[in-house]
Amino acid sequence: MTTTRTIVRGGLVITATDELHADVLVEGERVAALAATGSDAALAWTADTVIDATGHYVIPGGVDAHTHMELPFGGTAASDTFETGTRAAAWGGTTTIVDFAVQPVGGSLREGLDAWHAKADGNCAVDYAFHTIVSDVNDGVLKEMDALVDSGESTSFKLFMAYPGVFYSDDGRILRAMQRGAANGGLTMMHAENGIAIDVLVEQALAAGKTAPRYHGEVRRELLEAEATHRAIKLAQVAGSPLYVVHVSAASALAEIAQARDAGLNVFGETCPQYLFLSTDDLAEEGPDGFEGAKYVCSTPLRPREHQDALWRGLRTNDLQVVSTDHCPFCYVGQKELGRGDFSKIPNGLPGVENRMDLLHQAVVDGHLTRRRWIEIACTTPARMFGLHPRKGTIAPGADADLVVYDPAAVQTVSAATHHMNVDYSAYEGRRLTGRARTVLSRGTVVLDRGSWLGRAGHGTFLRRDTCQYLV
Ligand code: URP
Ligand code: ZN
Ligand code: ZN
Ligand code: ZN
Repeated sequence: MTTTRTIVRGGLVITATDELHADVLVEGERVAALAATGSDAALAWTADTVIDATGHYVIPGGVDAHTHMELPFGGTAASDTFETGTRAAAWGGTTTIVDFAVQPVGGSLREGLDAWHAKADGNCAVDYAFHTIVSDVNDGVLKEMDALVDSGESTSFKLFMAYPGVFYSDDGRILRAMQRGAANGGLTMMHAENGIAIDVLVEQALAAGKTAPRYHGEVRRELLEAEATHRAIKLAQVAGSPLYVVHVSAASALAEIAQARDAGLNVFGETCPQYLFLSTDDLAEEGPDGFEGAKYVCSTPLRPREHQDALWRGLRTNDLQVVSTDHCPFCYVGQKELGRGDFSKIPNGLPGVENRMDLLHQAVVDGHLTRRRWIEIACTTPARMFGLHPRKGTIAPGADADLVVYDPAAVQTVSAATHHMNVDYSAYEGRRLTGRARTVLSRGTVVLDRGSWLGRAGHGTFLRRDTCQYLV
């Protein structure tokens, strides 16, 4: 069998640590070599295909470590399938997703993973992996965690301090899961909001006739995110376990993480584009039918605009290490509408898997981030955090040839009319962004080129993972 050779020539290769004008040689599914553009080494290469990247960036494919394709939630299910969601990811320059397999209450982690494999296997356009949502900590589950970490099928476990009666775990269960993670190398991920207290406030708000979407933000108080974040950190400290706090939205929650990190703890924070670019102003939008804000209902909720500055700062100072999307799309018509007259019935989640790389590039244009930091928080650190490095998240010999030829000057206007996610609105409708993926390779195969989709469902493979590679 002959191996296909491709050269990506003349671009500015950007990784988390370097920027260099280099050609990239791809052999089969992997990067074989890098050499300075015009150097004797690069000029000596032969290839079947040469992709001209002159005037463009060449970046690692994005790693979105937090998605929910087809997640059942609130009596409905997230509207992107693994097929549509991974295709949309690739359109936006993301070539790896890590989704969450949900343990059914009363069932095993195995049942959850089997269900997620059944949805994803053979359907993904790009590579994928699974975290596990642990919704029922018991002795059997603790044993299963050991086996999943050993086999690499799932090396990270999300627990919820929110959503009583659904995903919620009490502090004792959380502590037991964390102790197990401390022993077996699994990384505990935490949805840090005090769901017990929030449910009281929800009930009181509804009783007072406060039913509009904006009250979702009011009852999910910032203090209750900060409190839960603090508690999660202390529980992790007691267990001696690392902790990754997902979807951090509040400045005061970030301050808890920063304090833990200053103390040298293995505490990490993720934020999402929606918290960096959107705010309670969006959630309060009434629109023609008084319900427009439902498009912006997610948990943790959007916060007042002031929080954005703190989050950008956290990303620069490495108090936040990762930007993932928490992509969890629900159509406005027929899905978000389930909560008309009762905000607590609006399915929680925003679409964004296609927009993340471009929104963060806009942050480079706007001066919030350097180019290398963009790659670090969107590609390299998520890969290291979740045991996928150096196969994913960087451009180096031996790494998978997940490459994006990125046009930093292309201007686009984000719109549901043109996006590829299976959802009837865009949370960023009308926003003008500078920068866009021109050509995308997934394991050496061109899946997208100049606005033409060349990929296929089933190209994406399931990724086994190492344990966290980011511990101090
Ligand atoms: O609103 C959100 N984030 N929906 C997805 C589930 C979760 O908590 O991540
Ligand atoms: Zn240059
Ligand atoms: Zn969550
Ligand atoms: Zn989520």
